[in-house]
Amino acid sequence: MRPLLVWTALSVVQSALALHIYFDSNEKRCFLEELASETIVEGHYRAFLYDEDSKNWKSEETMGIHVNVEELSTGHTVVNTRGPSDGRFTFTSHDAGDHKICLHSNITGGWLTTQVIKMYLDINVGTSKVDIDSDISHVTTIVTKLRDLNKKVTDIQREQRYMREVEAEFRDLSEATNSRAVWWSLVQILVLVGTAIWQMRHLRVSLIV
Ligand SMILES: *[C@@H]1O[C@H](CO)[C@@H](O)[C@H](O)[C@H]1NC(C)=O
Repeated sequence: MRPLLVWTALSVVQSALALHIYFDSNEKRCFLEELASETIVEGHYRAFLYDEDSKNWKSEETMGIHVNVEELSTGHTVVNTRGPSDGRFTFTSHDAGDHKICLHSNITGGWLTTQVIKMYLDINVGTSKVDIDSDISHVTTIVTKLRDLNKKVTDIQREQRYMREVEAEFRDLSEATNSRAVWWSLVQILVLVGTAIWQMRHLRVSLIV
């Protein structure tokens, strides 16, 4: 299981993009991101407004950021939200192809008074969605293989048992043959001895007569 976990952890973040951009409060910034289908994208942005008085960047509570993601091939809007100046957005691509990610602020300044926004944007393009179907089929394949192996082991055990039985039968048979052979030689010896005795007696009789 461990290699699988490591592999999963590695494949979660396939690519990350860290940007640091400046734009006017009435300006819309867009990026094209080429994505495979069923890919999870997570964006994290932090926007700051330039404060003329303090000559500094400060986070502005009243500033909201619109995020709009469009799937270019189909024209579908995947994301359309407004979040705070520090926020996240997440979406999953349905089709492969270019995705247009657009961000703009909701600051409505007066005519000709635009403010400068500095934004940090991290985009993480993650793994494809966990492919449960292929996982299940993979597990099923392993289960089938295990079942086949089990069956083979049982077959081999049965074969071994059969061989042992055959061996035992053969041993019994050869033992029986051996003892029969012993008896047969005994009988032969007896017959020989009997014949010898009979002949001796017969010969003696014929010699004497
Ligand atoms: C801009 O968005 C922020 C955060 O969502 C919200 O608090 C603010 O009222 C919005 N301002 C305008 C002018 O819509």
